[in-house]
Amino acid sequence: MSQQLTVDHLHLAADYMQDYLKGLKSRRVAPTPEQVKQLDVFDIPLPDSSSDPKEVLNLLHEYGSPATVASAGGRYFGYVIGSALPAALAAYCLAGAWDQCAGLHVLSPTGEKLEQVAGNWLKQSLGLPMEAGTGFVTGATMANFTGLAAARHALLKQLNWNVEANGLYGAPEIKVVVGDEVHVSVLKALSLLGFGSERITRIPVDAQGRMKPQQIEIGAGPTIVCLQAGNVDSGAIDPMHEIIPKIQRDDVWVHIDGAFGLWAAATPTLSHLVQGAVLADSWAVDLHKWLNVPYDSGVVICRDPQHLRASMSVNAAYLPPPGSQGPYQYTPGMSRRARGVDAYAALYSLGRSGLAELIEKSCRHARHFAKALQEAGYQILNEVVLNQVLVDFGDHTDQIMESLQKDGTCWVAGTTWQGKNAMRISVSSWATTDDDVERSLAAMISTASDLG
Ligand SMILES: Cc1ncc(COP(=O)(O)O)c(C=O)c1O
Repeated sequence: MSQQLTVDHLHLAADYMQDYLKGLKSRRVAPTPEQVKQLDVFDIPLPDSSSDPKEVLNLLHEYGSPATVASAGGRYFGYVIGSALPAALAAYCLAGAWDQCAGLHVLSPTGEKLEQVAGNWLKQSLGLPMEAGTGFVTGATMANFTGLAAARHALLKQLNWNVEANGLYGAPEIKVVVGDEVHVSVLKALSLLGFGSERITRIPVDAQGRMKPQQIEIGAGPTIVCLQAGNVDSGAIDPMHEIIPKIQRDDVWVHIDGAFGLWAAATPTLSHLVQGAVLADSWAVDLHKWLNVPYDSGVVICRDPQHLRASMSVNAAYLPPPGSQGPYQYTPGMSRRARGVDAYAALYSLGRSGLAELIEKSCRHARHFAKALQEAGYQILNEVVLNQVLVDFGDHTDQIMESLQKDGTCWVAGTTWQGKNAMRISVSSWATTDDDVERSLAAMISTASDLG
């Protein structure tokens, strides 16, 4: 086998990266069907013999790059998707060379240190308690899962039930309360944890999808209440400052799914939206959304690190002795990439002001989309409080979205909001410029008027 990695390979990879990133400005966002069809070139029998890494890089760039979706650029507004910030991407590449398994101190002192510091910066930026524990996971789904596992542990421990050892068979019942607009990832986490996604109490929400505080009644007994910062459609945030003080009790655990909305806390102009979030017991936040680090990256934060550790920790003779510290003690996974590296690089390169500007700029763009589309005669279905805009194009909404996706100037997807088909614009990328917004608006308005 001749698998020497030379500086030529690294230069080639860097050249291809640069070529790709430069092309994002001018290329269509979705690949063409022909470009997607060409992916068939990858579908070959496993080669019998080794080859130079250059060969595979050439193949990847020639056929893989064109068939990607340009979500790393500034005109992708589907789902809630960030792009990798320059410092985060470059750090991620360097960390690729390090190839660290960041679960254990003895495997990666650097990985552990950067997770600790990035975790502290994160708590500072989000206004959360500095003594809270953090776990770097794959995204908000796993962060919700992990936070809720800590909740399950803590509430049952109070009742002298060891859920890690004895499971839920015969355990005291924990009630689970969510808003009617709960994100599916919370339901998934609840089902994985044995609570069942249907055995929950749903609290009615207002027209924006915010839980109605006056409708929350918590009966006696251990209860988990899941609140939401950032509705995946409307961007709305539950009124935490009204809800949490009303329900706080020793046997009530409040978890906040703040996948993207919790980032409002990092700006002076929007932090009022998440006022009261600090009072919760655990929080889930994505880094690959609004912090704009490469996939896959999210963080669970838990007020009492002991609950996180007790629900996640494992011991074995080949591992460091029980009681020792190590990132893997706070996450479901053991071996994993050093997610703290690109999180550190993103936060370092932005600084407090850059982070606030990134969040505020996305929200400014979202408000501009809403205003311009409204002025063009289309209805906006949500209060644009954050980075999400829901547009009603009437009977032609689906056709308009499909046509926009084909056109390629930008990419948007749909949803159903309170019974209405809507186009959903999510502005989450650092790379989106005023020009990107204007070009996308022009495409939206001309497509809608052609089809409307
Ligand atoms: C509110 C909310 N929670 C959780 C998630 C799941 O996040 P991830 O896909 O990073 O697991 C999302 C994703 O859009 C979300 O918007």
